Amino acid sequence: MKGIVLAGGTATRLFPLTIVTNKHLLPIYDRPMIYYPIETLASMGVREAMVIVGGKSVGDVVELLGDGAHFGIQLTYRYQEGAKGIAHAIGLARDFVGDEAFCCILGDNILRGPGLADVAREFESGPHGAGTLLYRVPDPERFGVAELDESGRVIGFEEKPQHPKSDLIPIGVYFLRPDAFGVIEHLAPSGRGEFEITDVLNHYIPDRRLFTRIYEGHWTDAGTVPSLLRAAELARDDDLAGRLAPPVVRPGG
Ligand code: G1P
Repeated sequence: MKGIVLAGGTATRLFPLTIVTNKHLLPIYDRPMIYYPIETLASMGVREAMVIVGGKSVGDVVELLGDGAHFGIQLTYRYQEGAKGIAHAIGLARDFVGDEAFCCILGDNILRGPGLADVAREFESGPHGAGTLLYRVPDPERFGVAELDESGRVIGFEEKPQHPKSDLIPIGVYFLRPDAFGVIEHLAPSGRGEFEITDVLNHYIPDRRLFTRIYEGHWTDAGTVPSLLRAAELARDDDLAGRLAPPVVRPGG
């Protein structure tokens, strides 16, 4: 399975931390933020990934990650102009992905707990068109939010609703197939002017082609000051429990 890591956006919620630098370079405990999603992909068995870069300090992101050899992943890059949303960024990887299933992970998502190799394999060999992992949070209005029927099946996602219909959110891990590029092409921008990943996921719900699993580990994004701190705490807790391998260092620095 190929991977996509999204590392664009303007990160205004972290100003002034991100006025002159890219959010994904900020430290989370002992390593830059973007290390975590790359390590998550590597531990899933992904060996080739495209990093979609944008916003500030793009050259520094490339300099930090290089060709990815130190992570055991071959990395290539593509530039996203402006902040047009997650679905738009994924659309930029169309040629890179080719005809395989792929996993896209947001560059500010930190997962600590069970790896995703099994869930990736299940999606890849199964019949579903798209998939995501769900997680319970106390502040769902900050995210995409799932609506469930009485049997617990997801019947829709709403992006950042004022009145969330549940506390279950799709985290920034998406399993997709090349079919998704056709869906993305026909999306209309949302009220905030972005092409929303939740609209892509919604496309697969009516004919039951959406795959969802609850993520059983600890998760946080790191796009706000409290969540940036929370991410560092998760990494520290894992370190104290002996579950955080030392960060890899790029040859030569
Ligand atoms: C994005 C997605 C949202 C998802 C979240 C997970 O929101 O749009 O559906 O729940 O990532 O991190 P963002 O916080 O990037 O605006």
